[in-house]
Amino acid sequence: MSIQFIDLQAQRRRLGEPLNRAIAEAVEGGQWILGPQVTELEKRLAEFAGVKHCVTCANGTDALLIVLRAWNVGPGDAVFVPAFTFAASAEVVALAGATPVFVDVLEDTFNMDPASLEAAIAMVKREGKLMPRVVMPVDLFGQTADYRELEPIVAREKLLMLCDAAQGFGGLLDGRRSGGIGDAAGTSFFPAKPLGCYGDGGASFTNDDGLNDLLRSIRMHGQGADKYENVRIGTNSRLDTIQAAILIEKLKIFPEEIEMREAVARRYNEAFAKSNSIRVPRVIDGAQSTWAQYTIQVPERDKLQADLKAKGVPTAIYYTIPLSAQKAYAHYPSAPVPVSTALGKTVISLPMHPYLDEATQDKIIAAVLESVGGA
Ligand SMILES: Cc1ncc(COP(=O)(O)O)c(C=O)c1O
Repeated sequence: MSIQFIDLQAQRRRLGEPLNRAIAEAVEGGQWILGPQVTELEKRLAEFAGVKHCVTCANGTDALLIVLRAWNVGPGDAVFVPAFTFAASAEVVALAGATPVFVDVLEDTFNMDPASLEAAIAMVKREGKLMPRVVMPVDLFGQTADYRELEPIVAREKLLMLCDAAQGFGGLLDGRRSGGIGDAAGTSFFPAKPLGCYGDGGASFTNDDGLNDLLRSIRMHGQGADKYENVRIGTNSRLDTIQAAILIEKLKIFPEEIEMREAVARRYNEAFAKSNSIRVPRVIDGAQSTWAQYTIQVPERDKLQADLKAKGVPTAIYYTIPLSAQKAYAHYPSAPVPVSTALGKTVISLPMHPYLDEATQDKIIAAVLESVGGA
C-alpha cells in the first residue's frame, strides 16, 4: 500500500453504511439545495463552534467574501492579511474591491505576527490613502492565530476581525474554538480539510444577529422577505443538501479525529526532537491544533523532499512564495515580510491524517531522519 498524504478513504471506510444512508435520504428527500439537513448542520456547527449563527455556503472563499460584502468593505478600505497563507485569504479582499495589506507571520507558529500587524496599520495610517477596516488572521495549518495578542490591537484600532478558519476550524485557544472567534469567521469544507465534505462547501459564523440576516440574504441573490424580493446585490452561494448530510455524519467523529491527529503530531514531534536539523511546529500554550498540516522546517528542504519522494513518502510545500510577492498581489501594500519569505524555502508538510498508523508513521520518520541526519 502506498503512503497517502491525506487518507480520505480510510475515513470513508469508517463512516460506512450510516453515511450511505444519510446520502440516500438526502437524495430521496428531494430538497437538494438548502434542505432540512442544511438547517440541522448549521445548528450543530454553531453549537460546536460556540457561536450563535452558522450560515453555510458554496465554499470557503465565499464564506469570507460574503462577510466582507455584508460589512460593505470595498474601495478605499484596507484589510490586513498574512503574507504566508493560501491565496483565497487575499483574493476575497480584492474581489470585494478593497485592498489587501500584507502582514508577516511568526516563524514558530506560522500565524500573524502582532508586531508586524501594528507596523502595517501604522504604515496605512501614515500614508493616509486607505481606511483600515478589517484584520483577517488565518488559523494556519490547524492552529488558531494568537488572538490574545491580536484582539487588543483590533479593539484599540476599532477594526473588525474576520478570522479565516478554513484550515483551523475546530482548533482551540483558551477553550474557544476556531470558527467561534472574531466578529465573524469563515471556514471551508474542501475535502482535504480536517472537516471536509465530498465536494465544495463552506460556512460563515457570527454572534451578530444583523450580520446573520445579511449573510443569509447575500448567499441567496440578496433576497428580502422571500426569494423573489431582491433588496441588495447578492450571489448564488449555497450548500448542497447531500454535502450537509455528509458533514453531519463527519461532525460526529470530528472531536475524536482531532485527538487522533494530535496523537500523530505528538509522535512526529517526539521523534524529530532527536535531530538538530528539524524545527517542529510550535503550538502555543492553551491551544489545541487540528493539524490540518504537519509542517516542519529544515535547511535542506528540497533535498528532503526528493529523498522522501524516492522512498514513496508524499509531501507538500505550503507556501513557497509569500502572497506579497505573487504576480497577482505584488502591487498591493505590504509590511516587510522576511519571515514569510524565509519560510518559503524551509517548510515541508508531511503526511498527516487521523488514520496514519504507527508502522507507516515510523517509516516516514525513519526516511526523514535518514535524509536530514539524526537517525
Ligand atoms: C487559508 C484558506 N483560506 C481560504 C480557503 C478557501 O476555501 P475554499 O477552497 O473552500 O474556497 C482555503 C482553502 O483551501 C484556505 O486554505
